[in-house]
Amino acid sequence: MIRPLRQRDLPLYRPLRLEALLRHPEAFGSSFEEEQGSDLSHLIGDPPNVTLGGFVDGVMVGTAGLVVSPRLKQRHKGHVVGVYVAPAWRRTGLARALLDHLVADARKSGLILLTLSVTVGNTAARRLYLHAGFTVYGVEPLSLRVGSDPLDEELMALRL
Ligand SMILES: CC(C)(COP(=O)(O)OP(=O)(O)OC[C@H]1O[C@@H](n2cnc3c(N)ncnc32)[C@H](O)[C@@H]1OP(=O)(O)O)[C@@H](O)C(=O)NCCC(=O)NCCS
Repeated sequence: MIRPLRQRDLPLYRPLRLEALLRHPEAFGSSFEEEQGSDLSHLIGDPPNVTLGGFVDGVMVGTAGLVVSPRLKQRHKGHVVGVYVAPAWRRTGLARALLDHLVADARKSGLILLTLSVTVGNTAARRLYLHAGFTVYGVEPLSLRVGSDPLDEELMALRL
């Protein structure tokens, strides 16, 4: 079951988000250290921003989010963030289902472009996005630094 999260879902969302940052620091722009002290309520946005939760038997095991700039000249595009599936539920199609849901929501909101960035070397996420129709339009060198390791990110886009 996939649905948009509300503020009341924070007790389920927060541990999953912190698990994602702790397990995969190289995959996200945010860091565990930055978010562990926050209630993370700011990550559950109001439309057209959305954070989706993927549930199995009432337990949240996956997330995917969409952030839209409020700026007049940038309201036509959304940035996909926070895509995560708990290890036990990977390769079951959940990330694909979350992404399909996000894309359908974005179309309904009138967005015409989705963008995202994926760390070079993250094969699973890269294939997920390519299968969903995203294409690579560039590479941001040294985009993230995790510890002392600088990491490049591929920039991807999907025209809706
Ligand atoms: C990337 C991630 C979200 C994929 O979640 P998932 O639920 O396992 O993905 P799905 O089962 O929906 O698979 C969709 C497609 O993704 C690709 N994929 C997923 N896991 C893969 C793996 N381990 N190796 C290669 N391709 C993989 C495949 O193309 C797959 O389609 P297929 O199963 O028909 O080959 C998950 O591995 C994850 O949470 N990783 C850590 C966090 C992360 O990297 N997030 C992305 C940040 S940009």
